[in-house]
Amino acid sequence: MKVLLIGSGGREHALVWKIRQSSKVQKIYCAPGNGGIGEMAESVAIAPDQIQKLADFAEKEQIDLTVVGPELPLTLGIADHFEKRGLKLFGPNRAAAQLEGSKAFAKEILKENRIPTASFEIFSDATLAKRYLAQQQPPYVVKADGLAGGKGVLICPSPKEAETAIDDILVRRLFGQTGEKLVIEEFLKGEEASFMALTDGEHILPLASSQDHKRVFDGDRGPNTGGMGAYSPAPVVTPEVHRRILDEILRPLLRGLKKREVHYSGVIYVGLMITEHGPKVLEFNARFGDPECQPVIMRLNSDLVPLLEATIEGKLDHVEAKWHKDAAVCVVLCAKGYPGPYEKGKEIRGLEKLQDWERGFVFHAGTANVGDRWLTSGGRVLGVTALGKNIEEAVGEAYRAIGEIEWEGMHYRKDIAQRALKKG
Ligand code: AMP
Ligand code: GLY
Repeated sequence: MKVLLIGSGGREHALVWKIRQSSKVQKIYCAPGNGGIGEMAESVAIAPDQIQKLADFAEKEQIDLTVVGPELPLTLGIADHFEKRGLKLFGPNRAAAQLEGSKAFAKEILKENRIPTASFEIFSDATLAKRYLAQQQPPYVVKADGLAGGKGVLICPSPKEAETAIDDILVRRLFGQTGEKLVIEEFLKGEEASFMALTDGEHILPLASSQDHKRVFDGDRGPNTGGMGAYSPAPVVTPEVHRRILDEILRPLLRGLKKREVHYSGVIYVGLMITEHGPKVLEFNARFGDPECQPVIMRLNSDLVPLLEATIEGKLDHVEAKWHKDAAVCVVLCAKGYPGPYEKGKEIRGLEKLQDWERGFVFHAGTANVGDRWLTSGGRVLGVTALGKNIEEAVGEAYRAIGEIEWEGMHYRKDIAQRALKKG
């Protein structure tokens, strides 16, 4: 088989790393890929939103399976386009990807199907939004409707900040197109978890549970990022919580989408708050989480390719996923300045010392390979991912490996998985 992977982050490196181990696969291409991916797949200089060009490439190279990493091509309708041209692709179609592409759409589906989530209202008028705000309790949660790279959610301690957030979105349009609507919702208390599952619209194959760390600094302080690290499994997802996520969230969600004649096929990612009343939905993503994908994929003991194929063919009830008993932890190493404007082009040293690392792997996100040197080229640069008998050992292994790596301005969180360790 020939596989084309779309994307350029740590998530995509983990997917390429795993797909490459499949006995079914002879060749992998990645568009556009990154420095690390370039060592195991052929890089193709096409951006993820150039759907026509990607389909032309898949046709010309007779690609058997295309796998989409990031959300943008999904919300632009890459699955619809590939299907029309008879090309096999893993990822939901445009209508289904609205679950991630529009927070208002996601909230409406949740409400229609009585799926537990924060109570909310949707507004496109700033005056009405502020009037509603006046009846709510702080902290206020204000969310821009569309894709905003994780930056469209504002948690505001005071009414003044919430009013500024409303104006930033609806009036000043700081989030561009995304600013036509917003959602104001109840603030939920509890512990967050990520739950990913493969679904063919009919059947659900849950993946191992995980948890990421969204804030940039230790102790969950500072601004939100794309994710500073993740671990799997997440102890907060107990067997009881797992059952409730399936019964109260995923099954009603699939029924609700069907009622609207929306066919969902791909990974569904549920961002959850585990509250004292059980799991509640914070958000959906129509793709693998990044960095959650890295530890989850490292723990997968089955060939990933048949699972992706079964998803596309509507045969998820014919396959199963086996998991390592070991836990996995991914710590993301970032460039100076991230999540704000960050430095690029710094030389990364020490990677060669981890080439034969037995208990882990360094997934690349923002790197470029120039001659025999590695340079930083993104905000999230590397995802150092380790296995361990338990979370504690995996944490120790990951941070030991990080000790080998350095570049000027490198920063990372020192407390990845601490919450899980406290539970243990
Ligand atoms: P989202 O992109 O919707 O998951 O929001 C990003 C982050 O904001 C989440 O991971 C939570 O930490 C936080 N958040 C979002 N919605 C709420 C809410 N209703 N209550 C508390 N925290 C929230
Ligand atoms: N780590 C959260 C996300 O991928 O959106």
